[in-house]
Amino acid sequence: MDKRRKHIAVLVSGGGTNLQAIIDAVECGKINGDIKLVVSNRKAAYGLERAKNHNIKSLYIRGDGEYSKSYDKKLEEALDKEEIDLIVLAGYLKMISDSLIKKYENRIINIHPSLIPSFCGEGFYGIRVHEKVIEYGVKVSGATTHFVNEVPDGGPIIAQKTVIVDDSDTKEDLQKKVLEVEHKILVESVRDFCDDKLEVVGRKVIKR
Ligand code: GRF
Repeated sequence: MDKRRKHIAVLVSGGGTNLQAIIDAVECGKINGDIKLVVSNRKAAYGLERAKNHNIKSLYIRGDGEYSKSYDKKLEEALDKEEIDLIVLAGYLKMISDSLIKKYENRIINIHPSLIPSFCGEGFYGIRVHEKVIEYGVKVSGATTHFVNEVPDGGPIIAQKTVIVDDSDTKEDLQKKVLEVEHKILVESVRDFCDDKLEVVGRKVIKR
């Protein structure tokens, strides 16, 4: 029996350019999977608009204050309903519950805008990452995709791609350069997952 195409959920909190890269890759046949759901913890996230523009089910789940208790359950129910195989965190700024990480072991992919294990973990997100990279004076930065485990930005690395940090770069210049390689490696990582090409051996992700 043919294996069905993978069902993908993308979680966003912001503009959603990484989501858009995945949408475009699915639509042009580069990814053998279907985005069944886009979820955001922020009502104003433009990523939700992008989903609507492409007739993809989108869901805002309120998670602040008193709503935080019910957030994880609502998220898990929405994922179950769509029989999700792969969760992609594309600029998603909320912690994933331990139970969800366990349930989706090596089936949650995150994109981070630096070369992990540098400039990652607690407090390293968005433009702050590039600010610290410029401040430190490194000559090379880039992006990383990895499977999500219980350590923030600490799961097995799937792909990385570098960019040169020019002396004249501002944090905005660097963010733009890194965002381009983020789109590339995220699409490749999702494509390879949907083609069952990724095998996790200890801390390593081997591409078959
Ligand atoms: C990206 O830089 C991503 O690496 C980081 O947040 C940003 C989100 O960008 N986690 P977008 O919402 O996909 O445009």
